[in-house]
Amino acid sequence: MSRSAYFTTPIYYVNAEPHIGHLYTTMLADVLKRFHQMLGDDVYFLTGTDEHGEKIAESATAKGVDPQSFTDQISGLFRSTWTEIGVDFDDFIRTTDERHKTYVQQILQQVYDAGDIYFDEYTGLYCVGCERYFTQTELVDGKCPDHQTTPKEVKEANYFFRMGNYQQALIDHIEQNPQWIRPERYRNEVLSFLKNPLEDLCISRPKTRLTWGIDLPFDDKYVTYVWFDALLNYVSALKQSGSGKDLFERYWPHCNHLIGKDILKTHAIYWPTMLMAAGIELYRQIDVHGFWLLGESKMSKSLGNVIRPLTFDKQFGIENLRYFFFREMKFGADASFSYELFVERYNADLANGLGNLLSRTGSLIKKNLGGVIPKVTEFEAPEQALIDLAAQTVDGFVDHFENRQFHLAVDALRKLQAAADGYINETQPWRLAKEETQREALERVLYTGLEIVRILATLLSPIMPRACRNILEYLGAPSPCNTETPFAERVAWGGLPAGHSLGNVPRTFPRIDEKKIKEITAQAEAAAPPSGGKPAKEEKKNDFRPLSPEITIDDFAAVDLRVGVIKEASLVDGAKKLIKLMVDLGEGRLRQIFAGIRSAYPEPQALLGKQVLVVANLKPRQMKFGLSEGMVCAGGGGTERLCVATFDGELLPGDSVS
Ligand code: ME8
Ligand code: MG
Repeated sequence: MSRSAYFTTPIYYVNAEPHIGHLYTTMLADVLKRFHQMLGDDVYFLTGTDEHGEKIAESATAKGVDPQSFTDQISGLFRSTWTEIGVDFDDFIRTTDERHKTYVQQILQQVYDAGDIYFDEYTGLYCVGCERYFTQTELVDGKCPDHQTTPKEVKEANYFFRMGNYQQALIDHIEQNPQWIRPERYRNEVLSFLKNPLEDLCISRPKTRLTWGIDLPFDDKYVTYVWFDALLNYVSALKQSGSGKDLFERYWPHCNHLIGKDILKTHAIYWPTMLMAAGIELYRQIDVHGFWLLGESKMSKSLGNVIRPLTFDKQFGIENLRYFFFREMKFGADASFSYELFVERYNADLANGLGNLLSRTGSLIKKNLGGVIPKVTEFEAPEQALIDLAAQTVDGFVDHFENRQFHLAVDALRKLQAAADGYINETQPWRLAKEETQREALERVLYTGLEIVRILATLLSPIMPRACRNILEYLGAPSPCNTETPFAERVAWGGLPAGHSLGNVPRTFPRIDEKKIKEITAQAEAAAPPSGGKPAKEEKKNDFRPLSPEITIDDFAAVDLRVGVIKEASLVDGAKKLIKLMVDLGEGRLRQIFAGIRSAYPEPQALLGKQVLVVANLKPRQMKFGLSEGMVCAGGGGTERLCVATFDGELLPGDSVS
């Protein structure tokens, strides 16, 4: 019987570009969607952007743009990033969507009419990064533990939601539903927070201070507090789906929120009490994950140590990161990302592991059996052991997935792959191939090896859809989401199609050269703000160098300097000094620019993703190799110090520089 499932990610703040921390939760929803589709379930996946509130208003002001065009741009960036890397969301909600605003106002009015919203004066400590008030006990050394900033004291008259009235009902719900908040540590955290009296929630901001929000339907001098607005997206999107259908009845009862631990309180305390007040059934489940750290610190846009999904995709392939994420993070706990570890895991598990099992069995079939998958129906003890292990692996994999123990699910696959490797090493098909009389044994061994590959690729496909599709196509095996055959049959032993002619073995997991990491880390260091570092060389006395004659501010203003992001970089045949760059200036197309910086970047990929300084209105120049439309600025020309000028912080393509 098919079940239904509804997965949501947080809607991300649009105060900066997406990074691989956001990618993790988004990818988690994508993987869970594909996992459920594989089981034959009816799944819906919602993501989107959170666009109101102080934080966004402040970021827009800092950029000198109005909040609407600011949010349009960054929301678009989130959406296109997910689309570009193959995230299969069903709907993308923006809190500035009319459909959302109308719904928020409807709920506010309803809760107000029911008497659960009142007007009062309040003084509290507000963290703009978190967009919420903190109690003294939640602060560490007087600071927000997530943002390391001192919250500001805010005193004003506002509207309040009687959250405290729902405290006991919430405690009861958590106690009666031990699986509601997973993993358990977060359930305990919420229960312990609820041991203290729950204060009412301030749900408005006076327009004298903030206008960027949804108007309160009962007082137009106020806008809605951003969290009261944002949380409702999970319902508003279903009520008024992108497809125009009301999907609430179908999916809401199966709602499974996916969040990072930073937003546990808003999701496990504010949100359920809001639902209770609105008379809406509580969501079914919330799964909470830890942080991805870079070294010791959280990857976050406020700390500026982010890795961008599109850059990573170009460098190493996003699916390989999906694998790493699932293999490496024990769900609920923090985990560290490093390029070194990523490459180590990839090479061990995929290049030398699954990829090698595939290529050694596939090429032996090609060489010795005419490239045709043999028909094998009788197996002996060593194969039987593998057949049993494969069945256990399937069950274990599904259970671990359902329990969000993804690293154990991946472990189970690795064990099966290792067992198959051991089996091939022992049976030595390359030796069997030399003896005519061993043909049957040879067929049995190669069939077994390849059948394990098929089962592994099927199970792994929610995590690595493209790679696994390639493998399954090569094997002539049905797609993992083929809904005509029940899942159990698709992963049962013997599904490998005998008689299928194998083409060339796909090089699905080519080894990554460790040297590549050095390049990338050098690039990351170059982009990071200086920390300590070597003291600059002391200026030599009397080393006076005359600079150019003066210009006026108007002369300077004629130069249109912009932030450009390097999207492609390649060597130019026949030009010893040039690199061809494709640069994004936020114009909706890429500009081709030739730069004489080859001596500093013999491997042009090192330039990918860099934010560089571009003279945007330089008259285009027709060169032998093509048109050059602008200039990328570099320092140290004519010396070995040559390098491109980048920015000490995060900007957007097309941002102006003055
Ligand atoms: O909190 N490791 O948005 P946000 C793992 N708008 N996950 C990470 C991460 C990291 N280093 N960094 C970010 C908001 N995330 C609100 C949500 S929902 C109604 C409103 C992921 O842009 C993780 O899912 O700050 C975290 O909870 C979320 O991004 C925070 O995104
Ligand atoms: Mg945040």
